[in-house]
This record gives sequence, C-alpha cells and structure tokens, in this order.
Amino acid sequence: MDKTSRIKGFYKLQRGERIDSLINFSDLPVDQTQVLTHDGSLPFETADLFVENAIGSHPLPLGVATSYQINGRDYLIPMAVEESSVIAASSNAAKIIYESGGFQAEILSNLMIGQIQLLDLPVEEFAAAKDRIERHKAQLLQVANEIHPRLIMRGGGARDLEVRIFPDTEIPFMVVHVLLDPKDAMGANLINTVCEGLAPMIEELTGARIGLRILSNLADRRMVRARCLVKKEKLAFKDPSFEWKPEEITQKIYEAFLFADTDPYRAATHNKGIMNGVDPVVIATGNDWRAVEAGAHAYAARTGRYRSLSKWSLDKEHNLVGELELPMQLGTVGGVTRLHPSARVALQILGNPNAQELAKIICCSGLASNLAAMRALCTTGIQRGHMKLHAKNLALGAGAKGKEVETIAKEMLRTKSISASKAEVLIEELRRTSTEKKDHDVSSTSPC
Ligand code: MEV
Repeated sequence: MDKTSRIKGFYKLQRGERIDSLINFSDLPVDQTQVLTHDGSLPFETADLFVENAIGSHPLPLGVATSYQINGRDYLIPMAVEESSVIAASSNAAKIIYESGGFQAEILSNLMIGQIQLLDLPVEEFAAAKDRIERHKAQLLQVANEIHPRLIMRGGGARDLEVRIFPDTEIPFMVVHVLLDPKDAMGANLINTVCEGLAPMIEELTGARIGLRILSNLADRRMVRARCLVKKEKLAFKDPSFEWKPEEITQKIYEAFLFADTDPYRAATHNKGIMNGVDPVVIATGNDWRAVEAGAHAYAARTGRYRSLSKWSLDKEHNLVGELELPMQLGTVGGVTRLHPSARVALQILGNPNAQELAKIICCSGLASNLAAMRALCTTGIQRGHMKLHAKNLALGAGAKGKEVETIAKEMLRTKSISASKAEVLIEELRRTSTEKKDHDVSSTSPC
C-alpha cells in the first residue's frame, strides 16, 4: 500500500465513492464491501455464537479517518463510534501531523501479565517462598510452555516469573506474575490457562493456598509509544473574528497539557479525549475495548496520582512535540477479530496488520484525537464544531431527508436556536414552502 491517505474532501463523497476509495487504497476485495453496505453487519448466527441469550446485534456508525502517516506508511483508519465529531477531528489532526512529517511509533514490549495469588503463608515465610519459586523458575517456565506448544511454534511463550509480596494488608498475601509473549493474540485465554496450569506446582513448592489466577489488564509490559512533531504554522487558523497565531496556539496547547498532567479532574477528560481515538479502532477491529480502557486508566494512575496519558512539550522553535505511551492488549488472530465480518473488513482496510502494528496505529489515533481536542479547547472551544454536528443529528432525528438535513442544521445554527422541536418546526416550514413553490410552478406553467 503506497497510496496516499490524504484523500481530499472524503467527507463530501457519496457512500459508494467512499467505498471505491477504500477499494483503491487498501485492495479491499469487492465482495467484502458488501459487508459494509449490508447495514447491521453481524448475522444473527454469529451473534448467537458470541454471546448467551443473543437477540440481535447493536450497530454503530463505521467511518474512516483519513490522512494518517505512521512510520512513513499511509493508513486509512476505520473507526466505530457514535460521537459525531470524533472521526472529523481525528482526520483533521492527522492531516496537521501528516504535513508536519507524520507519526513515529514503536512497540516497547509485548508481554502479557498473569497473576497467581498465594495465601495463608506466615509473613516470616514469604522470603523463603519467593526464593523457592525463583530457584524453580526454569522448570515453571518449561511447564508453562508445554501448555501452549502452538504459541511456541509461533515464536511466543512464557518468558519470566516475578514474585511480589504484600505483607502489610489485612490478610497478607504474595503474587506470582507470569510474563508471556502472546504474539498476535490478545492473550487473555493463553495467560489465564497458564496461570491455572502453573498454580498446583506453585502450591506444592510453597505450601501456600492458591487464590485467584487471572491476567492483569494493567498491561504495562505490553507497551506501545507514538510520537509526533507538530509544526506550529500548521496549527494556525483564522476564525471569522480572530486570527490564531502559531506560537500562541502551541503555547496554549502546552498549558492545556500541564493542566491535565496536574489536575486529575482535567486528566480524566483529557484522557477520555485520547480514548476517543483509541476505542473506536479497538471496537472496529473486534478487540476488547474494556481491557484497553482499564489498562489505559490504570497506567495513567501508575505514579499514585491520575495524570495525563500523553506528554506535550515545545521545542526551541516553539513547535509542539507529542508523545503517547499506552498499554495495548490486542489480537489480530483468533476470537472475534476473525469471525466478525466488519472487523475483518476493518483489518483489511488497515492492510491486515499484526497485533503490534495495530497497536502502533491505535496509539497514533489516540495522540491525534488528543491534539484535535486540545487545539479546539484552547482556541474556539469545543462547542462550535460539536453544535454543527449536533444540529445535523437533530435534523435527522426530526425526520429530515437528503439536502433538508444541511438546510435545517444551517438555519438552526444561524438563528442560534438548536433543539429537536425547532428542527421539527423547520422541516414543516421547509416542506410547506417547497410544496407551495411546486404548486405555483405547476400552475404558472400549466397550459390550462
Ligand atoms: C469529548 O468527547 C472529548 C473532550 O472533552 C476531550 C478533552 O476535553 O480533551 C473534548
């Protein structure tokens, strides 16, 4: 895929033209596009296979964010999301970053953590139990690796064990961490089976009672990092009433970052803005967004204070330098990713990445959404863009069709009266005037 993701005016294209662009860009087989045009793309038999008590499926809008370039390669990024402004904002920020040189992204580590809890040991015996586990590490890892021979064939497997002690809690306990490389699987089943498989041996070695055996979603050994340099002049823009100067915007964005990094109340919203870019891609590719969400927020609190997940700074020329590090537990093999028809299409649009490449893409998407939110918040405010889309949604909700949507939304924005009831009144007026006009046209051209 050496084609450009900078597709100008993608949003102005008709649906068919957008899908044609995808076919051109990502060599998406034409028969797969039927999944996209088949709205509510999950067949009941598949839904019934995924969950108990299925009664249907719950579609979300699926769009693509344009203008991404990551490590020199262009991507169109599929996003499944209900919030109107997310895809537009993502594409907008990605374009600014594209024109500044694109994203750089890397995997920092690829190990899932599994936890085995050990109870009922006297605190004085913790050190000896820890020592015994550490002396038997090689044997324990070998047993762990015999549980998943196919994972070993794929180059993954259990890599290490770590022992942690909690002697000062109401009921003192120890925890063994199993570190396992799941390659392209999300890894939850792999690591949970290993924890359950190792537990009896650890019980025998230590004499402890085994408690829980489960993965940790604070996947801080499965980390990805995205970086970008944003040229200050690419951020400048003209408002109807004001010209936002490059250095002024970069300074304000930096101040916005400091706010989020200092105050947890702001950090939660700032990080939600990052997850606006993360979750929709996680969902579109059939991955477990609750796991990714849990990991991200736990990681944001790793210092004991909940902070910004992203870091922003200014270089000597007052350009912005952005960085986002996230725990990223994703799979591109097995599970829903391959069974869900539109998740398969989403992966195809991305060029069928492996889990690590997908993690990089998602991290960049998070950083772009963060930039878009901060730029809007520290200049015109978020509501203007939101209200435009909100007005369109209200018009649609009130029953507007085709061009009526734009006309009614514009009128609501012009009169600063944006509500469902106003949209209904405007539709009625619009339709009445167009009927009257038609009647007039017919009567004036009538031969009678
Ligand atoms: C809205 O979905 C996300 C924002 O609130 C994020 C932020 O405040 O940074 C705009």
